[in-house]
Amino acid sequence: MPDQRVVQLYTVTNANGLKMDVTNYGAIIVRLYVPDRDGKLDDIVLGFDEFSGYTPDSPYLGAVVGRYGNRIADGKFTLDGKTYTLAKNNTPNGVPVHLHGGEVGFDKVLWNAEPVSKDGIHGVKLSYTAKDGEEGYPGNVTVTVHYWLTNENELKITYAATTDKATPLNVTQHTYFNLSGAGVGTILDHEVTLDASHFTPTDKGLIPTGEIAPVEGTPFDFRKPHKIGARIDADHEQLKLGGGYDHNWVLDKKKPGELSRAAVVYEAKTGRQIEVFTTEPGIQFYAGNFLDGTIKGKQGRIYLYRGGLCLETQHFPDSPNQPNFPSTILRPGKTYESTTIYRFSTR
Ligand code: BGC
Repeated sequence: MPDQRVVQLYTVTNANGLKMDVTNYGAIIVRLYVPDRDGKLDDIVLGFDEFSGYTPDSPYLGAVVGRYGNRIADGKFTLDGKTYTLAKNNTPNGVPVHLHGGEVGFDKVLWNAEPVSKDGIHGVKLSYTAKDGEEGYPGNVTVTVHYWLTNENELKITYAATTDKATPLNVTQHTYFNLSGAGVGTILDHEVTLDASHFTPTDKGLIPTGEIAPVEGTPFDFRKPHKIGARIDADHEQLKLGGGYDHNWVLDKKKPGELSRAAVVYEAKTGRQIEVFTTEPGIQFYAGNFLDGTIKGKQGRIYLYRGGLCLETQHFPDSPNQPNFPSTILRPGKTYESTTIYRFSTR
């Protein structure tokens, strides 16, 4: 790193030949090799071969984002009577807002990392302590993320966090997947299912209006599988604001906090499929609409407009300013816990 600290890269494998490379810079998943239906391994996540690719303008490729993933309106929130001011580091449709924890969020810091193994399963444990006042947020917060590669071909991610002052917290994983292989075309032919009968529409700044709207009868209804490209440019106000899909879906859950299926993504040519399970109440399905074909990634491949998609399991955007959304406030003495599983298979 510019300050001479050394960045590490860990390689994790499972019993079936899946392989994942993880760096402690930003807790970034750099490479993830999974088989297609003929058993051919390909790296299906966007990223860079060199550390220098992960510049401050990298759009969060592979990283953990926080302290608050996604947006906070006007870079401000009030908690226990005190107003906190955050960086407005993003301007969707010209509106300045706070995004993914600010100028130097969890994606741009060096985490402590160590290899972990349990019952023949391997992984990496990463932890980071954000200081009281860091990026404007209150409280010293310690976050621990475990990445496991199970023998059921799952990337299992667990998050835990504690704080010494009340603070908003919403951490998620920002990997861009392309099931044809990183840098191979767009994701428009990928078929998506989302287990959500509602979503949170946004205003111009991509901040939720507060409404929990039904997806029924809209291009946001993915309760049955649809190709992403089929409706992404439909004449719908929300698609215009997002430049395509870039929204939070409200997951249908029997019990809040249960680990349940959130999404399925399938690519017919390779047969690759991801099933996503999470304890979180929402998922940001982002279709890579802000990728503009200028990023040269691994092996010199260009990452096209809509060349990758994110499935960010999360609490809803702007929750600190939205009293009717599930709370994202972590208080001293409590432990934040969250689990997300990406299960890879073929059909
Ligand atoms: C957001 C997008 C944003 C992207 C940053 C996603 O989580 O939903 O609006 O552009 O992160 O690369």
